[in-house]
Amino acid sequence: MPHVSNRVTLIDHPMVQHKLAIMRSVHTGTKQFRELVRELALFEGYEATRDFPLEDIDVETPICETVCKRIAGRKVAIIPILRAGLGMVDGMLELIPSARVGHLGMYRDEVTHEPHPYYAKFPADIDQRICLIVDPMLATGGSAVDAIQSLRAEGVRDIRLLVLVAAPEGIEAVLASDPDVRIFTCAIDEGLNEAAYIVPGLGDAGDRIFGTK
Ligand code: PRP
Ligand code: URA
Repeated sequence: MPHVSNRVTLIDHPMVQHKLAIMRSVHTGTKQFRELVRELALFEGYEATRDFPLEDIDVETPICETVCKRIAGRKVAIIPILRAGLGMVDGMLELIPSARVGHLGMYRDEVTHEPHPYYAKFPADIDQRICLIVDPMLATGGSAVDAIQSLRAEGVRDIRLLVLVAAPEGIEAVLASDPDVRIFTCAIDEGLNEAAYIVPGLGDAGDRIFGTK
């Protein structure tokens, strides 16, 4: 798994690249697109939790007693940025069934591309949790930066941003906005077009997940 830097991880496993190529195609329909977002979220969650600490537990197998490992009590919150981030929640919950889910609602202004937050609901103990922000697209970075600032204001220390496709501009904006956040992405694309869409990208992720226009 290549680390582009100590704070940016590119998950370029062959299965990830294969699934992402299908998602990028304009000919892929809503049902398959939604399934692929869920699957890639699971793969990405797997990599983003690679450093979770383990502790020993005693286990009695059908053969003998042994010592095994389990996750050492790290509490997690999954924070989807609405709407498109919702598409990644089920995959993440398959991986971490005990995670809490907070929601951050925001939409991008079509002209200025600035994020407009309209909703926030977090678990009560959010400051004690590792927060995994999920959103398929990191374009200008405005939405992600706003989300990270909202979580820092709640006292969250460990924030990880999980996206499927990132533009270099968005990565730079996020890294510049916060000294500690880490980014996980399945692709780093060429850049943004004049409408601040990722090129080549996959179009509007929210519309493709939910079948809207
Ligand atoms: C998309 C996407 C991100 C944001 C990325 O959401 O899901 O949240 O744009 O762009 P940025 O990096 O320039 O902020 P959008 O606002 O289109 O809403 P949606 O999820 O409802 O489609
Ligand atoms: N939001 C999307 O859904 N796609 C982009 O390419 C940029 C922002």
